[in-house]
Amino acid sequence: MQFCLDKHGEWVAVSASDENREDEKGENGGFFGRKNEQHVKKIAKTLADSTTWLDMLNDTKRNAMFQRAIENSTEKIKSVKKRNAANGDVVLHVFDVGSGTGLLSLFAARAATKTGVTVRIYSCEMFLPMFLVGERVVRDNVREKKVPETSSIQMFHTRSEDVDAITKHELDVLISELLDSALLGEGWLMVLKDVFSRELLRRDHYSIVPSSAKIWVQLLHAEESVLDVDVKKGRAALFGEAITSDGFSRLDVQCHFDSLEKRGRIRAISKHIQVFEIDFTNDKDWGRTEVVRCCCSSSSISSSSSSSSSSLRSLGLEINAVAMFWDVDLDGSGAFRLNTFPAQSYRRHWRQVIAPLECPIPLSASEEIPIQLEARIADDCLAFDVKVSGCGDKEKEKKKEMTMKKQKETLIETKQETWREKKRWLHIALANISEFWSSRAPLGDNVCGLNLTKANVLLCAKSVESNSPGYCYQSFKCDLLDELGHRYSTIEEEQTIFLWKSCELFVDDADEKKREEEEKEEEGEEDNKKKLRIDVDAGLEITANHVVFFFSDKSHADEWKTQPVQVARMDQELIGKKFTIIASNLDADEGECIRVLRK
Ligand SMILES: C[S@@+](CC[C@H](N)C(=O)[O-])C[C@H]1O[C@@H](n2cnc3c(N)ncnc32)[C@H](O)[C@@H]1O
Repeated sequence: MQFCLDKHGEWVAVSASDENREDEKGENGGFFGRKNEQHVKKIAKTLADSTTWLDMLNDTKRNAMFQRAIENSTEKIKSVKKRNAANGDVVLHVFDVGSGTGLLSLFAARAATKTGVTVRIYSCEMFLPMFLVGERVVRDNVREKKVPETSSIQMFHTRSEDVDAITKHELDVLISELLDSALLGEGWLMVLKDVFSRELLRRDHYSIVPSSAKIWVQLLHAEESVLDVDVKKGRAALFGEAITSDGFSRLDVQCHFDSLEKRGRIRAISKHIQVFEIDFTNDKDWGRTEVVRCCCSSSSISSSSSSSSSSLRSLGLEINAVAMFWDVDLDGSGAFRLNTFPAQSYRRHWRQVIAPLECPIPLSASEEIPIQLEARIADDCLAFDVKVSGCGDKEKEKKKEMTMKKQKETLIETKQETWREKKRWLHIALANISEFWSSRAPLGDNVCGLNLTKANVLLCAKSVESNSPGYCYQSFKCDLLDELGHRYSTIEEEQTIFLWKSCELFVDDADEKKREEEEKEEEGEEDNKKKLRIDVDAGLEITANHVVFFFSDKSHADEWKTQPVQVARMDQELIGKKFTIIASNLDADEGECIRVLRK
């Protein structure tokens, strides 16, 4: 199977090579077959457009912690089983839910060598393209003897609920990485509920990785624009849907805490407060609500906040948002933990989540404010709900104010909706962003000593045409520069990041005819209706590794400060003075393809 550039400079076309003939099954030529090409192209593009997969697989801490926790769990269970086994032979049964590239299954297989037991792994992945890639990755690693022969990995393309090969009380170890920034958003609890209800785990001893989590919150004052983020993205109304009917804030909107705090867009009002602990190995008390009380006074305002507590009070700030962090114990030993507390390092792919309060709590200059926090697992099991309440009438007034504000925002949103139909200006920059370069790097054969290169075809949609002219890029839509604070950096800092910037009129409806005529004149671009070619002269030799761009109905340079940007990682770093940028097949809903060639 190959992914390559198509004639428009779009970068995920698929063709089957001899090496992968076995994929060509079925009357449509298999999932990756030619007849399915458009479909696969779309999926690959969607996957590559999303930031999380490569970040996740390049998160070395995550990988190492899971590897060691799986080894430790296997060792622990082996010891118990060995004690009970009549003839001393031990076979461990492991279930990897949501295997993706097969990484955790391969860890489990390798744990067999370390512990000297036979391991039978059931591995399931519901997303077909990922499952097919996972099969290849496992096959590669078996062929290259990176996993021992004493283990077997049986792979199922299905949801975990539909894996019926596992018999009752057969499982020794359940492994899965369905953790997202909101902890539960990928359905980990649903998977567990099914496993418990089908009684797949052994009666006496079993291990679940990850095994437990603590939920922490922090009370905040957030700028209105921060809380508006979700509204902008199209969610009907943050202040409606993000608050449950009984006044709990639903913690499922991602943010990058560090960057927001650094720029004073959020201010920490409290310290981290632990509000909930969830034991994944026991489903008995997940429905409870925990109540925690605390007081907010000037002394409890976090020292990490950029303003002093007295200036916060004099500004008349209020607690209007809550952030959530989780801390997961992978194997119950406490030795292998992962958390989402804000960190300086970009390399950890999880972020923090934030939610507005139904009713903001005004900060008092003179007295301590008693606060009550109620925390529970959301009724759909996909998030945490936290209710933050203070006391007093002021809160009720605020609530009224908020409802009016929400109505106003909905009106503004509707007006903004029409912008795409007008002129579109492409704001574009060549940039050197070292943080992204490594976390979005294609996977090599050394992800914890395993070979994951086959995953690149889907996750990087990496060009395999060695003689393709120029380079293509994976693009993804995200406020990544915001996260790092780059978009708000000083001029001097900016020059090391944005190496060249421009603004070009991309589609001018009034000038449509002329534009089409011009395009027809260009060789080989007869059916490429939306294309822009930009000549870049950076003035001096630069090393560019990303393209940063966004569309706006205004050409003003200040748009960089307010519009969400897209960042595209180049396949290779480009060094030079002069480049040509081709932006093609632009459709805001599908994602843009930007291609840069060195002249
Ligand atoms: C976050 S990825 C983790 C991949 C891999 N385990 C790793 O750690 O690198 C989660 C994967 O689980 C899959 N998934 C989620 N819920 C599932 C379920 N109930 N059954 C099977 N696959 C599932 C998703 O399609 C996704 O590929």
